[in-house]
Amino acid sequence: MPARLLVRDLAQVATPVPGAVPARGRDLHTVEVIEDAYVLCAGATIESVGPMRELTVTAGDVEEVDGRGLCAIPGLVDCHTHPAFGGDRVEEFSLRAGGATYEELHAAGGGILSTVAATRRLDEAGLAARVERHAGWMQANGTTTWEGKSGYGLDRDTELASLRAVRAAGGSPTWLGAHAVPPEHPDADGYLDWAIADVLPAAAGLADAADVFLERGAFDAAQARRYLEACRAAGLALRLHGDQFTESGAIPLAIELGARSVDHLEATGPDGVAALARSDVVGVLLPASALFLDRPQPPARSLVDAGAAIALATDFNPGSSFTTSLPLVCSLACTQLHLAPAEALSAVTVNAAHVLGRSNCGRLAPGLSADFVLLDAPDWRYLAYHLGGDVVAGVIRGGRFAVRR
Ligand code: NIG
Ligand code: FE
Repeated sequence: MPARLLVRDLAQVATPVPGAVPARGRDLHTVEVIEDAYVLCAGATIESVGPMRELTVTAGDVEEVDGRGLCAIPGLVDCHTHPAFGGDRVEEFSLRAGGATYEELHAAGGGILSTVAATRRLDEAGLAARVERHAGWMQANGTTTWEGKSGYGLDRDTELASLRAVRAAGGSPTWLGAHAVPPEHPDADGYLDWAIADVLPAAAGLADAADVFLERGAFDAAQARRYLEACRAAGLALRLHGDQFTESGAIPLAIELGARSVDHLEATGPDGVAALARSDVVGVLLPASALFLDRPQPPARSLVDAGAAIALATDFNPGSSFTTSLPLVCSLACTQLHLAPAEALSAVTVNAAHVLGRSNCGRLAPGLSADFVLLDAPDWRYLAYHLGGDVVAGVIRGGRFAVRR
């Protein structure tokens, strides 16, 4: 019998119970709330979840934890982060506060390329330490499963070191080989030729997915197609950064190539909304990024009402979204994207897990991973309601406390 952990007398347990995954439309609202509840873990797996009156197991090798005044929700899933970077962009942040725009700074050689220079200055151990530190920030905010992109190396060694660092810190690595054109390559096509020939064969063995920044000033649709087709042929799942500033063809390309997701969508118009809603591609919304850059928010309500599958993520990175807090993202989802708390919860759990190809997490049910968050709250919706609040009282990962306050 594996070690068992019982969290008892919880004010509430709340978990998505969608009819199908990814959840879409009304199904995003399907959150089951059990009052006066418990969660029982056997080893790294959930044994049972239910109301206290149905709890039968009390004797034997069970560590009991008092959950009074707390709520349990599934461990949060951050399906879009950029944690492998050196340096910071606090100077740029100050310039933007004074009126400079993100795209202007990027065009002037700041932005992503300044982080590329800082990341290349780290050795492999230094980069791994940075990713480990960022993973700790995520966990402290309730994240138990996460994706981490490369994309600040853009040379072979730093890209591969980034992917190894993400895996070593417990994340799912995504090769963002097409993030920007690094200075040693004269143009985007030449850079992609080199990356596909010289980096992809090794990256494919280290990463779970590939991603591209399809945008004015980065890569166009033809270049994105060439990169993604090569990555798909090498066995990687596909993701796209699209429609962040302009509609440049990311949604049709994502649908055509069978991508897992298209992320950002701040510039998506009605045709893009309708096309995405008819497809199996998940729209990953990043409201902290839009807030951080003072940009328009994505058309979240239209996407959900049209029937699109959506997820929410932090987009944690030094330039456009320096936050690792999914609870903050849930607050923004409710106040800025006009999603209901239940829709936000589904989007940061079960649907985000789907984007990462994980079906063993994102819900609380027998047989799934024993990953959950204890909220210091009498009602699970404090997850979104407590804006910037200290809402995470504990994080259980694989049936053990990873964070306990
Ligand atoms: O998702 N848009 C492209 N990449 C990141 C930002 C990268 C940066 O500014 O360093 C994003 O927002
Ligand atoms: Fe991003």
